[in-house]
Amino acid sequence: MIIKGKFVTLRAIEERDLEMLRELINDPEIEQAVSTGMSFPVSSYQQSLWFEQVSRDHDTLRLVIETEEDGAVGFIGIKDINWKNRTCFPMLKLSKGKARRKGVATDAMMALMQYAFMELGFHRLDGAIVADNVASQRLFFERLGWKKEGVRREAIFYGGVYHDVIQCGIVASDYRELLERLERKE
Ligand SMILES: CC(C)(COP(=O)(O)OP(=O)(O)OC[C@H]1O[C@@H](n2cnc3c(N)ncnc32)[C@H](O)[C@@H]1OP(=O)(O)O)[C@@H](O)C(=O)NCCC(=O)NCCS
Repeated sequence: MIIKGKFVTLRAIEERDLEMLRELINDPEIEQAVSTGMSFPVSSYQQSLWFEQVSRDHDTLRLVIETEEDGAVGFIGIKDINWKNRTCFPMLKLSKGKARRKGVATDAMMALMQYAFMELGFHRLDGAIVADNVASQRLFFERLGWKKEGVRREAIFYGGVYHDVIQCGIVASDYRELLERLERKE
């Protein structure tokens, strides 16, 4: 089923989304914000091979974020699913430009968390945020109820220097508290 937020829709990836997704992965700023490993430029051909491969992968959820105003504007999903401990690791990237700073990431993550906690029955979502990623810290810690749990000092390398990574997470009780807090505000 598709996943609905207040104004975003999270839906399956279609062939027409591949160019938008390739732009996300080829953008150095976005890639540095999310990646802890090696990242090589991706061609259209490699992107189509990736699409074929991930279409058969049922262990990771990969979705496109769509709004009525701007169409397909980003990627969201969950990886590293552990059904015994009921944990997983969300992924999130938004196209640069007009879709940013309009609450799209907030709405998309709220929809994903609702799906993860209330439909799939996860107990905990894991995260890792590069220390200089201010936008993500505001998003996850100020808006979405995630908690800082520790710092992996100098854990990733880019731009010639090592960067700290903030380990974080949200458990089911934090999520319930967040919903109560948001309800009181409305
Ligand atoms: C992080 C990201 C998803 C935020 O998307 P967005 O739709 O612009 O975020 P929202 O509009 O929902 O805003 C969420 C919060 O982030 C803040 N924010 C967004 N962009 C920001 C920026 N460039 N600088 C500072 N704060 C920023 C917003 O102001 C808001 O906080 P506030 O309520 O305290 O003002 C987007 O910038 C992105 O895709 N970045 C690159 C990939 C990435 O970092 N992914 C997450 C990895 S952990």
